[in-house]
Amino acid sequence: MTKSKRPTFIFDLDGVITKTETHHFEAWKETGAFLNYQITPENNEALKGVSRNDSLKKIISWSGKEVSSPVFDRLLKEKNDRYLASLSSLSEDDIMDGVHEFILEAKANNHQIVLYSSSKNAKMILTKLNIIALFDAIVDGNDVTNSKPHPEGFELAALLSNTVPQNCVVFEDSSSGILAANQIGMTTIGIGDAKSLSMASRIYENFKEISLNDF
Ligand code: BG6
Ligand code: MG
Repeated sequence: MTKSKRPTFIFDLDGVITKTETHHFEAWKETGAFLNYQITPENNEALKGVSRNDSLKKIISWSGKEVSSPVFDRLLKEKNDRYLASLSSLSEDDIMDGVHEFILEAKANNHQIVLYSSSKNAKMILTKLNIIALFDAIVDGNDVTNSKPHPEGFELAALLSNTVPQNCVVFEDSSSGILAANQIGMTTIGIGDAKSLSMASRIYENFKEISLNDF
């Protein structure tokens, strides 16, 4: 079933390709304030990789409040409006150090490049970063019913790239993403904070530390 012997590389987007995690955090803080709840950096770790809908459910549960369905929908929309406004000047300058070079080198060496992000804004962001054409397949929040830590999106990424999960290497900054990919036997590379990514196969601070020869 595997198309090529080279591992397929599956990239997360927010916090791996670009630092949009901080924009999500800022946008959710205002939602927290509306609910009289201060979202902490630890809370934000738990929101990484989690869909917009599931993130709001978590925040509401942390706040101990209850909200009606129309208010839930309004909070989701307002959060996304704030988030999108904060990305108005996003450009290729916002690609994290070493990522673009790594993808180009991997493509030149016949690795398939796939995206799996829980974000429904993923294609728009890749377009703004001017790298969307580099991806052989894209799975985003619009394509899955269950977001990370459920493995559905990674299964779809493997299927679309015609690669067995054991030959996929996943780059993730979220514990929910690492857990999801581990469940189906993918190799997981944590990018960023070693504390929250301890269940990854390997951890790097950023792509400048990663060499194609590592795989
Ligand atoms: C993930 C982020 O990539 O996408 C989460 O880590 C975010 O923080 C999720 O909530 C959904 O993103 P969006 O853009 O659809 O609200
Ligand atoms: Mg992420």
